[in-house]
Amino acid sequence: MELLNNEIECMNTVIANRYKIIEKKGQGSIGYVYKGLNLFNEELVAIKFELYDTKFKLLKHETKICKYLENFSMFPSIKWSGIFSKYRYTVFELLGISLEDLLKREQKLQLDLVYIIANQAIDSIQCIHEQNIIHRDIKPDNILINYNKICLADFGTSKIFNGQKSTSYISTRYYRAPECILENEFYDMSIDIWAMGCVFAEILLGKPLFIGTNNSDQLYKIFKILGFPNKEILKTLNPDLDLNNKSIINETSNKLHEIFKDIIMPNHFYTVISSMITLNRYREKPENILKKTFFHDLKIENIL
Ligand SMILES: Nc1ncnc2c1ncn2[C@@H]1O[C@H](COP(=O)(O)OP(=O)(O)O)[C@@H](O)[C@H]1O
Ligand SMILES: [Mg+2]
Repeated sequence: MELLNNEIECMNTVIANRYKIIEKKGQGSIGYVYKGLNLFNEELVAIKFELYDTKFKLLKHETKICKYLENFSMFPSIKWSGIFSKYRYTVFELLGISLEDLLKREQKLQLDLVYIIANQAIDSIQCIHEQNIIHRDIKPDNILINYNKICLADFGTSKIFNGQKSTSYISTRYYRAPECILENEFYDMSIDIWAMGCVFAEILLGKPLFIGTNNSDQLYKIFKILGFPNKEILKTLNPDLDLNNKSIINETSNKLHEIFKDIIMPNHFYTVISSMITLNRYREKPENILKKTFFHDLKIENIL
């Protein structure tokens, strides 16, 4: 989205009384995020400025969800929000660099930081899932890091889970769970586990694990690594798939471990990743992931 000069002007008039814009921090799907200064208390903030129209209204519950999560420190707190004309302004506490930018800068992360990110990431998912919230857009761009503390951000397309059907055209493609790619509208929290598994893999590889050029290529890239599923597994991913008269490549061998064979990683981390990136859509729950040896060993070594 390109901002026109008069739009920037309009934004400035709305918030100028309260905040001074310092610099651009990031760009999202339908807007920009700026670093700003609260003129009353000199607090640094992040101001999200987005186009707000009825098309996005349905998707954008961010303010509501962040308010719901405000007692937890692992999510950004909202300081102020308002709608002016076709724009919405949301002022958040200022957080650090995104994992996306950190990976671009560092290529590979120190193993201690990998431990810390993994632990806090699963804690955050456990917390939102306990509140019945599905994030639906977990990716490195939406994980912000501040002095070894991570924050799961961007609840712009999150949803309170109610078992009802939801749009399957959700998440960013590289992190989209196979059941969503197959247009199953009755997915659940486990799409976040898939996406976070992909993020963990990316932290080790320095690039996304499944780089599909479109929805079907994305599925192909996933199957090439996890194995081409038989009809039973395909049916669990989407019971409405019409598989009659379809020839199915049945190559079930899982080659995920081959991808990581030359990669230096913390002990037992692969077990965590492989339990999250599964074609079985009933993936492990966060509380069970946290019981794995990887996290257990860390507590003994006092890293966490
Ligand atoms: N509270 C914040 N502090 C610092 N940077 C932020 C903050 N919120 C967002 N950003 C930056 O802006 C980018 C876009 O914000 P995000 O909330 O993900 O918007 P979108 O819904 O448009 O993707 C993020 O990837 C991050 O780089
Ligand atoms: Mg985002």
